[in-house]
Amino acid sequence: MTQLTPITFHEIDIEAIATATGRVVVFADTDGKLDTGARRVNKLMRGALLRLIESDRFEQMKAGDAVTLAFPVGMAAEAVDIVRLPRNADQTQARAAGASLAKLRGQVDVLVMAGAVRRIAEVAYGFAMRDYAFEDHKTSAKPRAGEVRVMCGKVDEVQAAAAPLMAIAEGAFMTRDLTNAPANVLTTTTFAEQLAEMSALGLKVEVLEEADLEKLGMGSLLCVGQGSASPSKVVVMQWNGGAKDAKPLALIGKGVVFDTGGISIKPAAGMEDMTMDMGGAGVVSGVMRSLALRGAKANVVGLVGLVENMPSSTAVRPGDVVTSMKGDTIEVINTDAEGRLVLCDVMWYAQDRFAPAAMIDLATLTGAIIIGLGHDNAGVFSNNDVLCNAFLKAAQTEGEGAWRMPLGQCYDDLLKSRIADMKNVGGRAAGSITAAQFLQRFVKGDTPWIHLDIAGVASVKSETALAPVGATGWGVAALNRLVSDMYETE
Ligand code: BES
Ligand code: MN
Ligand code: ZN
Repeated sequence: MTQLTPITFHEIDIEAIATATGRVVVFADTDGKLDTGARRVNKLMRGALLRLIESDRFEQMKAGDAVTLAFPVGMAAEAVDIVRLPRNADQTQARAAGASLAKLRGQVDVLVMAGAVRRIAEVAYGFAMRDYAFEDHKTSAKPRAGEVRVMCGKVDEVQAAAAPLMAIAEGAFMTRDLTNAPANVLTTTTFAEQLAEMSALGLKVEVLEEADLEKLGMGSLLCVGQGSASPSKVVVMQWNGGAKDAKPLALIGKGVVFDTGGISIKPAAGMEDMTMDMGGAGVVSGVMRSLALRGAKANVVGLVGLVENMPSSTAVRPGDVVTSMKGDTIEVINTDAEGRLVLCDVMWYAQDRFAPAAMIDLATLTGAIIIGLGHDNAGVFSNNDVLCNAFLKAAQTEGEGAWRMPLGQCYDDLLKSRIADMKNVGGRAAGSITAAQFLQRFVKGDTPWIHLDIAGVASVKSETALAPVGATGWGVAALNRLVSDMYETE
């Protein structure tokens, strides 16, 4: 797994500034008041820092932006990065500051003089999240080098605030690594193996194999993988950090390791992007990792359906009718609408086995959600306003775009089949909503439920606030926050 850059916190030692190698970071704002670190840098550099702060250039920077003074006289460092940040910066500004610094870092050591900055743990989180590169398949890549030393006041407090944030970053890195991995490397088998390794963190991990899924009656999930040489699997990850009798939150992820479309095959252009079609399962895995790493006092169970959607002589055909674990029959009109076929059985199994307090599924489910919301907001569908609003608030707090979409009988009606209980597509109109409606048919009674369509946000072609191009890890922070807001006992 891609490792986080080590970030450690220390008492302020002004004398370290002159001799530090790599990069030195100081914070400033336009009020002209320099903290002790910035004052020392300014003195060593014979006033250059103050000249910068008084310049138009600095005036035009936004909170969280950084500017570099290279090879400063009087210092051993190769550069000084000056971050514009108000002392009472909000969380977004603090994280943006960390991200700016991560982009400048390269592979060298960094000494951050954080004297007067509040929210320094959030700066560290922004740094950790943005200091990510997927280099597993670059033969020229050296192991990532360099570390970050942060000098600040109240070291113990900052450290305590940073620890759970680093657990989130670790989870997000796992999600990104999984989502970025090519499909010949991340098969259903290697995916399940990686999840099984998380038992070392205190998670209870079980892998259900095809024979088990057949016994459970998961005819819908199994039909998706039946054309692939890779065996379909369901992995169950339990984190029991809460009260013994507390019903768990269930997180369910679509894990299509590659989506060719099957017999309803996709066009060649852009098909390589379908390596990310396990993004939902990636988020569920990352959240479970974060919860375990920070020792969350909550019961959460993560379930992922791992399949590969391939065309072959054994593949499911358009027109085939399959029977779901629930017992409902499904006419497969389009084999490319496979995500819902996987999720419906995993959702039913999750409710059957765990009777969860609430259920949230994540899936790169529809291209239509990208047409509707682009790459900045995931589609949110829910049958429960309390749960849904709590999630929307958590997502907003974490800066992860999420926008609620409607559900309704009129959309459900579009799934009527002439020969089976339902068909797996509802036509072109409202494609994301009919997909959600299909899933809602597999929600038991009034179990609070959210469906997150993350097709637009799981992997992106231009960088976001805290992630480079590629897999974002969207949702790990929001779901972690939802768990702490709603399900943790203290
Ligand atoms: N995995 C795709 C959805 C997708 C598209 C994810 C683009 C990420 C980026 C999904 O399985 C799919 O193929 N959906 C079809 C549904 C249609 C056949 C009803 C789609 O969106 O075209
Ligand atoms: Mn598909
Ligand atoms: Zn898909």
